[in-house]
Amino acid sequence: MPTAPFVDLSVHCKPRGPSDRIALTFTKILRFTADTFFAKRYGHRAIVLETVAAVPGMVGATLTHLRCLRRMCDDKGWIRTLMEEAENERMHLMTFIEVAKPTMFERLIILAVQWVFYLAFFTLYLLSAKTAHRVVGYFEEEAVISYTLYLAELDEGRSPNGPAPAIARHYWKLGDDATLRDVVLLVRADEAHHRDINHGFANELAGLAVNHAAVAPYPDHADDIRLAA
Ligand SMILES: [Fe+2]
Ligand SMILES: [Fe+2]
Repeated sequence: MPTAPFVDLSVHCKPRGPSDRIALTFTKILRFTADTFFAKRYGHRAIVLETVAAVPGMVGATLTHLRCLRRMCDDKGWIRTLMEEAENERMHLMTFIEVAKPTMFERLIILAVQWVFYLAFFTLYLLSAKTAHRVVGYFEEEAVISYTLYLAELDEGRSPNGPAPAIARHYWKLGDDATLRDVVLLVRADEAHHRDINHGFANELAGLAVNHAAVAPYPDHADDIRLAA
């Protein structure tokens, strides 16, 4: 059974200018809001936040695709990377929907937040793709922290560590005896990878050096994400 790749929990991109500081402040405000609303209900927290996390990749892919068409230039592999990120986040959502069921109120929040966040992120990406990728990098830093706290809840018995949902066993190529803890470790590794990729994109757009070797390894995922009927 695959084990989760190593995740460096100490990674933090220090803000290097006003746009980075805006991105970090915006992320901290959202973190405070999520902490206030969900407290330690990590399953519910994951469901709502993954519906948000799945938006930026698709927005970035769409706008990069359109820019490459207009400028008739190569995308350097960004479009597929961003589309894959969106799909990966949607698989996180489909996994956690099997762990916790969203309440009607949470579904309404998701509807409202999707409209606001999609339009806001789309506008931000048009204005400054660099800031948009920095925002995602900081979101992902917070996601790594949140899933680390979720692991502590599981390890200390405050949340039940049940069997891994079938969709997760298929997607991360896990054995039949895999547990929720195994899945959370892999989700956290996915988030660490997105963190480093998006900070790297922001650095590249800012004209800074990009250390590709420092990107957190990505867990292996199923090529065909559909579960056999
Ligand atoms: Fe995620
Ligand atoms: Fe993520």
